[in-house]
Amino acid sequence: MDDVIAACQAALSRKGQVVVLTGAGVSAESGIPTFRGKEGYWTIGAREYHPQELATWEAFERMPWDVWAWYLYRRGVCRAAQPNAAHDAIALLDRKLEGRFALITQNVDGLHRRAGSPIARTFPIHGDIDYMRCANDCVLDRWPIPEAIPALARGEAAGEAHRALLRCPRCGGMARPHVLWFDESYDEPRFFLDTARRIASASALLVVIGTSAQTNLPWQVVTLAARAGATIVDINIEPNPFGEIAETSGGAIRGTAATNLPRLVDAIIHT
Ligand code: APR
Repeated sequence: MDDVIAACQAALSRKGQVVVLTGAGVSAESGIPTFRGKEGYWTIGAREYHPQELATWEAFERMPWDVWAWYLYRRGVCRAAQPNAAHDAIALLDRKLEGRFALITQNVDGLHRRAGSPIARTFPIHGDIDYMRCANDCVLDRWPIPEAIPALARGEAAGEAHRALLRCPRCGGMARPHVLWFDESYDEPRFFLDTARRIASASALLVVIGTSAQTNLPWQVVTLAARAGATIVDINIEPNPFGEIAETSGGAIRGTAATNLPRLVDAIIHT
């Protein structure tokens, strides 16, 4: 850890953004299953469907209320969870660095928002499970899922009350979860594609936490940061492609986010 801290402190002495990129691993210690872990949403099927078949526009078109039921169940899991020390450390780093800091997250669980990371500097590139959009894209706006909608238990169907509330406030048509599906693409208005690329290209330090490096925009972020000469650090319980890149840069910390990130942040803010 000491050599990683020294690398981070050296990076802070250079001009450039301090950027954190998170994946499901940062929320694992809050009890939210990761995607590809043994308890992940990938391996626990919602009824007879495997999750990755439900998180698609194709499934939503074919069976919208089954897809909604699965998301409302997961929304309940996320809302029952609490931010952990890693989320709190990231929010602290934001408060200390303000405009020099940016958080790019793949997580839709809302825990960074609840830990105090400000919306202005937090970029959820895969959406947010607490929000919905118009399924017909009559506008690109997104709205909080109505509080009146309770969480659903696993396997429970979305009833008439749910169907009446999950409507677009503009056109009255059906709403859809504001989440990036596997048969959809990143863009700027909904998923901060250009913003994430711009932030990475201006970074002096990139700390990657709890991701298996399986998705496209995170790879662009790491690649652009490396190209900009940023110091790259990885925190993960397992080896992963971003950890290999970090080994040749700021270093890879093999351990949990909640244990290791607070120590790293403490060293960074006291530089
Ligand atoms: N601390 C740090 N890292 C952890 C912890 C922990 N406590 N627990 C698990 N990890 C690591 C795992 O080793 C793994 O590398 O977190 C990573 C989780 O990987 P995934 O489950 O693949 O999640 P993620 O990388 O965020 O998935 C990316 O893929 O499924 C899509 O859109 C979905 O946002 C998701 C994206």
